[in-house]
Amino acid sequence: MSRFGRIFKSQAPLPLLGEPMKVIVDTHENINGTLVLPLWQDSKSMVSGSESGVHRSLKNQIEIILEDGDFKAKAGTAMTLAGTEGGKALLIGLGKQDDASLQSMRESGAKVTASLKKIHGKTVTVKFHGMESEHMGAFVEGMILRDYSYDHYKSKDDEDDSDDVEITAHVTCEDSKTEDLQKSAELSSAVATGVYLARDLGNAPPNDLYPMAFAEQAIAFGAEHDNVDVKVINYDEARSLGMGGLVGVGMGSYRKPCMVIFEINGDKPGPSPCIVGKGITFDTGGISIKPSPSMDEMKYDMHGSATTFGVMKALVASGHEDRVIGVTCMAENMPSSNAQRPGDVITTYSGKTVEVLNTDAEGRLVLSDGLWYTGTHLNPSYIIDLATLTGAVVVALGHEASGLWSNDGELLNNIKEAGEHCGEIAWPMPLFKAFEKEMTDSKIADVRNLGAGRWGGSNTAAAFLKQFIPNMADSDEQIPWAHLDIAGTAWGAKSNKLVKNGATGIHVRTLHHLITGQ
Ligand code: BES
Ligand code: ZN
Ligand code: ZN
Repeated sequence: MSRFGRIFKSQAPLPLLGEPMKVIVDTHENINGTLVLPLWQDSKSMVSGSESGVHRSLKNQIEIILEDGDFKAKAGTAMTLAGTEGGKALLIGLGKQDDASLQSMRESGAKVTASLKKIHGKTVTVKFHGMESEHMGAFVEGMILRDYSYDHYKSKDDEDDSDDVEITAHVTCEDSKTEDLQKSAELSSAVATGVYLARDLGNAPPNDLYPMAFAEQAIAFGAEHDNVDVKVINYDEARSLGMGGLVGVGMGSYRKPCMVIFEINGDKPGPSPCIVGKGITFDTGGISIKPSPSMDEMKYDMHGSATTFGVMKALVASGHEDRVIGVTCMAENMPSSNAQRPGDVITTYSGKTVEVLNTDAEGRLVLSDGLWYTGTHLNPSYIIDLATLTGAVVVALGHEASGLWSNDGELLNNIKEAGEHCGEIAWPMPLFKAFEKEMTDSKIADVRNLGAGRWGGSNTAAAFLKQFIPNMADSDEQIPWAHLDIAGTAWGAKSNKLVKNGATGIHVRTLHHLITGQ
C-alpha cells in the first residue's frame, strides 16, 4: 500500500445521516411546548377549536393581537408570544386563502422551524384549523425540510449554535382529516431522509467525500436493505471496459474515479426509470484550471450523484416496490502530471471519440460513459441525468430553476409537472440541431467537448450529452432521455426557503414524485 493509501484508510468514516424532525400526529387537545397557530391573512380572531389547552393570558394576548390587526398573517410572517403564566405561542401567517399553494404552505411550515430555532424551542404543537389536508401536508413537509443543518464538523460545545436543537413536532387538526395528515407526514418524513442524505453528501468536504468514499456509502446502504443492490465499477474495471470519459477526467487525481450502480427491487422485471448523476467530488477545472475565488464551491459538483443517491434512499424509505436504477459517475477533476490535457482525444465507452478542448468541461465526459452504460446495460424505460453541468445555465435561469432538456415531449412534460408540484422548478430548454452540429464538428474526433463560442453554453452541453443516448432496441429512435442542469439550484439559492444554506437536495422530491406518483 502506498503512503497515501494509508492516510486515506486512517480517516474516520464520513459523518453523514442526520435524521429528519420527528412528527407526531396527535388526536388529543394537549399542547406540548410552543403552540403554533397557522393563520390565514385577515382572520380576525383566534380560530375556534384551537384555543383549548392554551394558557389564559396567552389566549387573551393572541385575541387582542388579532383583533387589533397587529399580526396580519401575511405569507412569510411570524410572531412569537410569551404568556405570563407560562407557555409560548408562535403565530404563522399563511397569507390569503385564495393565493394558497403547496409551495406557500411549505414555506410557512419552514418559517415555523426557522423561528423555533431562534428561540431554542425543542417541542411544538401545531394546531391546524380550517385547512385542506394537502395544504397541511405541505406545511408539515416544509417544517421537516427546513430543520436540516450541516454541523457534523462543528465542535458540539458551541452553545450559540441554536441549529443543533432536535425538534419534536406534534400536529393536530379536525378529526376527519387526521388520517390524511398522518399519511402525508409519514410520506414527507420518508422522502426527507433522501433529501437529507443528498444534502449531507453535497455538503461533505471534498477531502472526505472522494469517489470511492461515495461508493463506500452506497455499498453500506445496499447492505442495509434486502431490496437494494449496489455495484461499483472501480478504476481498473473502468479502464478495461474502455470508459475513456470517466477515466480521462479522474486519472489526474490520486483519488481514482468509479461508477456506482444502484438497483432497487431488481427482482421486478421490465424496463425501469434510470437516474444518472454527475459526481465530480471536486472540480478544479483540471489543467484548464478555474480561478481561485469561490473554487471551494466546486465540492458541490457531485450534487447530481447526491440527488441520485437521495432518490434511491427516498424510494426505499417510502416503500416503493418497482425496479428503479441509479448510476453515479464519480471522479475528482485535478491538474497533475497524470491529468488529461486540452487537445487530448479520448475514446468513450460508446466507441465515439471526443476531442477534449477544455478539461473543465468534464461533467459531460463522465456522463457520456454513464449514459451509454445505462442505455446499453440497464434496461431503461427512460433515463434522466442530473448534473451541475454549466455556469451558463445559471446565467440563463439564475437560481430559480434547473434547466430541462429532453428528446421526448412526454417525459419533459412529466418532469416539468413533477417539479411544479414539488416547488422545484425545471424549465424547458431547447435541443436545436444547430447545437448538435456545433458539438460534432471536431476536426480530429467524432465529438468535441467545447462549443465553438461561449453562447448557449448550457444548450451545447446538453447537445453533447444527447450524442451518448443509445437507440431503443430494433429502432432508430433514441431511448427517452432528459437532462437536468442543476448548477443554479444545487446550492446558493437564496430564494429557497426550505433550506438554510448549503446543498439543497434539489429534485430528490421531484423524482420521487415522478416515479411513484406520490
Ligand atoms: N462544474 C462546472 C459548472 C459550474 C460552474 C457549476 C459554476 C456551478 C457553478 C463545470 O464542470 C464547468 O466548469 N463547466 C464549464 C464548461 C465550459 C468550460 C464549456 C463552465 O460552465 O464554464
Ligand atoms: Zn468543470
Ligand atoms: Zn464540473
